[in-house]
Order: sequence, then structure tokens, then C-alpha cells
Amino acid sequence: MSKRVKVCVVGAGRAGEVHALNLSYRIPIAELVAIVDQDLNLAKQLSEKVRGVHYYQTFRDALRSEEIEAVFIATPTFTHCPLTMEAAEAGVHVFCEKPMALSLEEAEQMISAARKNNIKLQIGFMRRFDPEIKKVKSLILEGAIGKPILIKSLTRGPGLPPKWALDPKTGIGMIAEVSSHDFDSVRWLMGSEAVSVYAVADALIHPELKEKYSNYHDVYVSILRFENNGLGIVDGGCPVGYGYDARIEVLGTDGLIMVGEVKGTTLLVSKSDKKVISETFQSWRNRFYEGYISEAESFLKAVIEDRTPEVTGEDGKKALELVFAAIESIKTNKPVALPLR
Ligand SMILES: NC(=O)c1ccc[n+]([C@@H]2O[C@H](COP(=O)([O-])OP(=O)(O)OC[C@H]3O[C@@H](n4cnc5c(N)ncnc54)[C@H](O)[C@@H]3O)[C@@H](O)[C@H]2O)c1
Repeated sequence: MSKRVKVCVVGAGRAGEVHALNLSYRIPIAELVAIVDQDLNLAKQLSEKVRGVHYYQTFRDALRSEEIEAVFIATPTFTHCPLTMEAAEAGVHVFCEKPMALSLEEAEQMISAARKNNIKLQIGFMRRFDPEIKKVKSLILEGAIGKPILIKSLTRGPGLPPKWALDPKTGIGMIAEVSSHDFDSVRWLMGSEAVSVYAVADALIHPELKEKYSNYHDVYVSILRFENNGLGIVDGGCPVGYGYDARIEVLGTDGLIMVGEVKGTTLLVSKSDKKVISETFQSWRNRFYEGYISEAESFLKAVIEDRTPEVTGEDGKKALELVFAAIESIKTNKPVALPLR
């Protein structure tokens, strides 16, 4: 394996653009060789932003024409499993965006294809690579606040996810799209597996979208119980208009850790009317700017050094299981025991 990994990005939308720019300009161990999008015009536009690398309409075309060692899959959820299978069969390492797949069965297929073909599989939980959230994990491991007993994680987004994410044929809905990050963070920081999830949700911001999309929610809360008896809370709401808001709080037997804030800048204006004016984070792109670079770098290092990625396919599947448990609990209005059958 050379010191630079030849990489292809599939999906030239919002997440694909973040990865392509990072791989092209901010990660020296990456060599971006191709952009793929079924909309060739989008692939071309993104290619123009990244030194004009070759662009293709299908991953198959890119595999035929380029030497590709790793692929970043940044396409809608329903494509994650087939694209991962294609990559695994070609011996190409896979970084796949969250939510991992449309079902737990698909997630299992992806994990076993990676194992069988001896490729690395990492899922896009970049919050684990955010410098401050990483620090939270190391403080917990050092015992800085005793044993964690209650972990809360919330995400509020300024806009609605893309339409494909709300359509049950192509996505899993808002909880998967937005809160799978929170489920992963709470599970990772607690260092334990959840044994039950109880969730409530409603469409209080856009009630009219309930008619259009079955399972539409725009505000929800989940309560988790872990094997180590710890408790978790995940809440979410979109679209909130005020900005992008991701915060975590860890209560331990000997203290508290809080991370994240609404304010996205140190700039503020304070005037004689005694009001303070500042700005919120506007997007996940700037809130987790460093996390996206660091997760991609870590994945490529796992490829070069032939070691297990820091976020595995199993982690992706566990987060997905929590999402499905929350969705089932919302439907039945009862706590759902884990693991799901
Ligand atoms: N980690 C994060 O914070 C984060 C943020 C945003 C999106 N995401 C994830 O990234 C993935 C993509 O989301 P997005 O918001 O960028 O979507 P998007 O709709 O902006 O872009 C998806 C792109 O994929 C293309 N596409 C669809 N099927 C394809 C196929 N089979 N082959 C090639 N191209 C195909 C579409 O034409 C589109 O341009 C999702 O899994 C989403 O959850 C993650």
C-alpha cells in the first residue's frame, strides 16, 4: 500500500462535497481520483472544485477506468448496501455515511461482505472525531467525573433533510437522518449497550408533512437504559430555523461534563441597551469542520496501517438498531427491549 490512498467519492451532494474538498485539499494521505454522481452535471461541478478530477455517472464506470483503493459513499441510504457490496467485491475499502443502511439485514450484509473480502468498513460518525467530544470520552475513561450515569445528546437542524430521507422507500426518516449521531454518541460515551428505548415524537413544526410522509416526525425524545444501568436521553427537532445545534451533557457520580453550545462564534456585540448579539452555528459543516477531516484521515490511516477503523460496521449497525427501536416505540407507545429480534 502506497503512502497515499487513491480515493473515489460517490455522491456529489451535501456530504459528498464536504468529503471531496477535505480529501482533495486537507488530507495529504488522500489522492482523490474520481467523483461519481448519477447526475453527471453535479459530478462535473464538484470535480471542477477539486482540481478537475475525472468524474463518472456510476461507481461501476469509475471502477472500470480508475485505480481505486477506497471509496467514500455519500449517497442516499437505500444505495449504501448495494454500493458497499460492489466496492467489497472489487477489494475497495469503504467509508460509508450514516445511517448505515435501510435495514439491519442490509447492515449485516455489509459487515459480512467487508469481512469476507478483507476490506475496511467505517461509518460516518464524525462526532467521535470532534476534538472536544473526543476529550469528553477521554475524561470519562480517566474517571474524571466518576461513573457516567446519565448522558444526554441533542441535535436541532435549521432545515429539513433531503426528500429522499423522508420517503420510506429511500430513507428512514428524521430520527435516522439526524439523531443516529446522538444515539451513537450516547452509546459510545456510556461504553455500554442499550437494553431498552422508549420514545415519543410528533410533527409539531410541519404537521402538514404527516400527510405526505408516513412516519414523519419533527420533534422527538428517546429515553435509553443501558446494560451498566446508566440512562440516556436523545432529543431532536428540525427545522428549527435558529441554526445548527448539537450538545452533549454527561452526568457522572462525581461531576458533570458539558460540550457544545448554540453560539457559533466568539464574536458578539454588546450595547448600552444591555442586549448581547451573537451568531449561531449555521450548519453541521462548520460545527463539525474538524471532525469531518479527522474521521476521513483516521479511515485512510486504518487502510494504510491495516488496522480496524475507529468506527466500525458494528457501530453503524448498533446505532441503526437504536433508531429502529425508537421508531417502534413511537408506534406502539411502549418501551422496546434490545437487541431487536
Ligand atoms: N455525517 C454527517 O453529518 C452528514 C451530513 C449530511 C449528510 N450525511 C449523509 O450523507 C449521505 C448523503 O446525504 P446528502 O445530504 O449529501 O444527500 P444529497 O441528496 O445532497 O446528495 C446525494 C447525492 O447522491 C447522488 N446519488 C444518488 N444515488 C446515487 C448512486 N447510486 N450513485 C451515484 N450517485 C448517487 C444524488 O444524485 C445526489 O447528488 C446520507 O447518508 C446522509 O445521511 C451525513
